[in-house]
Amino acid sequence: MNVKTRNRTRHYRTVSFDARTNAVVLIEQRLLPHRFQLVRTPDYRATARAITEMIVRGAGAIGATAAYGLAQGARAFHGAGLAAFERHMEKAFQTLKEARPTAVDPVNAMVEVRRKMAAGQTVAERQTLALAAAEHFADEVVAHCEAIGRHGVKLIRDGARVLTHCNAGWLAFVDVGTATAPMYAAQAAGRKFHVFCDETRPRCQGASLTAWELAQQGISHEVIADNAAGFLMSRGEVDLVIVGSDRTLGRTGEVANKIGTYTKAVLAQRHDIPFYVAIPLSTIDWNMKSGRDIPIEERHADETLGAWGVTRRGRREYVRVANPTSGARNPGFDVTPPELIAGILTPAGIFKPRELWRHRARLGGPA
Ligand code: MRU
Repeated sequence: MNVKTRNRTRHYRTVSFDARTNAVVLIEQRLLPHRFQLVRTPDYRATARAITEMIVRGAGAIGATAAYGLAQGARAFHGAGLAAFERHMEKAFQTLKEARPTAVDPVNAMVEVRRKMAAGQTVAERQTLALAAAEHFADEVVAHCEAIGRHGVKLIRDGARVLTHCNAGWLAFVDVGTATAPMYAAQAAGRKFHVFCDETRPRCQGASLTAWELAQQGISHEVIADNAAGFLMSRGEVDLVIVGSDRTLGRTGEVANKIGTYTKAVLAQRHDIPFYVAIPLSTIDWNMKSGRDIPIEERHADETLGAWGVTRRGRREYVRVANPTSGARNPGFDVTPPELIAGILTPAGIFKPRELWRHRARLGGPA
């Protein structure tokens, strides 16, 4: 999307690759919205660290980053022996996979890169194929987001008030975003609407990232405390909820997404407000049989016990909020059951969550 920095507007992708230096180029999301900065990771281990440390975050964005990281690892290999090359690739795959556990997109992206690489007869051919496959994955995520916008635009009527949680915008993908795609399409169609961005404690991706994206795009919005959503719903001030997902089970329709999503889905059902989940095809896990098996990332207690912000002088700082002797639990994600979800918004159309499996052929699933 376009980013305005110092009176200049330029188009950026969240993740890209510099083939000349074999570096992955990322927007440093921990500094947003206060500072816009690009960082370059020189090798696959640094790329994995950037995912773990959340320089880059969001399911689709870490999917593309992992795909590029794998290609980066392939291109850094010196030698001609295929067996040694494949051992090296397995190490890179595992390192990138372990960087964060909940989102399935990195695994799906890297499996696809590996599948395409296998057609190469030599190390050099596989290296070339790896980068082409990573570029294809990144382009496909963007195309999926655009298609989600075309299918989802009908959900946002003139005057609608939309609630979203966390950041499922372009920063969480490569461009456009999923939950935001119907918003951009509605804006392009000339509709007026308003977005409530859940703050999304503890890391505040809604207050910092989604609000920044919408502001950049000139979309009317307000940040609300996570606890305010129920009140607004009870007063008839929310017409629709659209969120993203980090892993959606193709067999059951269960949806893992940022912690707090389940609470919003329960509230939406109570107030008869349609609750939609927008995903590219790389977010579907066709193998897992139960939402209970989804690996839920437990993050550091400090995130819950305090907050990061930027001082008046522009320095990023952490402040402790909670009682100094208390500990905390900090699950990063929760799982929403299919009965609370009005529809899964995909590049192939809108489906009931329990119908994903039946439509798997259209959704890139197994035969
Ligand atoms: O912990 P994050 O910021 O990487 O969280 C992942 C997400 O971006 C959200 O859960 C989002 O709603 C899913 S859409 C990519």
